[in-house]
Amino acid sequence: MKIIVTKNYDELSQKSFEVIKQVVTENPFAVLGLATGSTPLGTYALMQSDHKHNKTSYKNVTIINLDEYVGLRKNHCQSYAYFMQENLFCNIDVDEKNCHIPNGMAESLQNECERYSALLQTHKQDLQLLGVGPNGHIAFNEPNTPFDSLTHVTTLTQSTILANSRFFNNPNEVPKQALTMGMKEILQAKKILFLATGKSKAQIVKKMLEKVSIDCPASALLLHPDVTVILDEESASLL
Ligand code: GLP
Repeated sequence: MKIIVTKNYDELSQKSFEVIKQVVTENPFAVLGLATGSTPLGTYALMQSDHKHNKTSYKNVTIINLDEYVGLRKNHCQSYAYFMQENLFCNIDVDEKNCHIPNGMAESLQNECERYSALLQTHKQDLQLLGVGPNGHIAFNEPNTPFDSLTHVTTLTQSTILANSRFFNNPNEVPKQALTMGMKEILQAKKILFLATGKSKAQIVKKMLEKVSIDCPASALLLHPDVTVILDEESASLL
């Protein structure tokens, strides 16, 4: 595991962007596993401006997102489909048919999970980008999710609902369930890029790097052969 500590969020985003750009430049047909949340926003902004100014192309790139809330329409402003559209897809040349996000409105959530797992079988991620929740969740794999799990429906913990309620009018509006890529499918990526920023992540960053433990999903990254962890000084402050 390679750990990079940057001075601040801007430097973290720059380094993270450079890793993604290298993957896409080396392989224009790369499969990128992407994440939502506020952490990757700076990275996505740099990808957009690089596309505009340097013409880095995503035309043949496949994007497979980690997760989606159950019950939000694609055009709901808090759906992850909307988030990706607004914060990345709309300003790069990625082909819509190569962009994948679980459908949280599917009639059968079980079938949707199976469809997504099958997609991940044939499209293994060259790079998987990850943030982390305050309780150590990656994607929406909450504490105690088995490390061999595939895409599944998960019930969000109170801690996750509270953490994510900052984007909604109040905690009651946060969906109680989500579809999430499973731990096994995250760990299948050739390369993992993990980002954490700010004081509120310092405790969980310390915990995940201490030892592999099922109650901290992010600690499963200790088992992966190619992980780059990029932190800012605040999230690295307890190391
Ligand atoms: C959500 C997403 C995670 C993300 C987490 C952290 O719960 N499902 O994939 O890592 O938020 O978000 P933030 O980057 O805003 O702290």
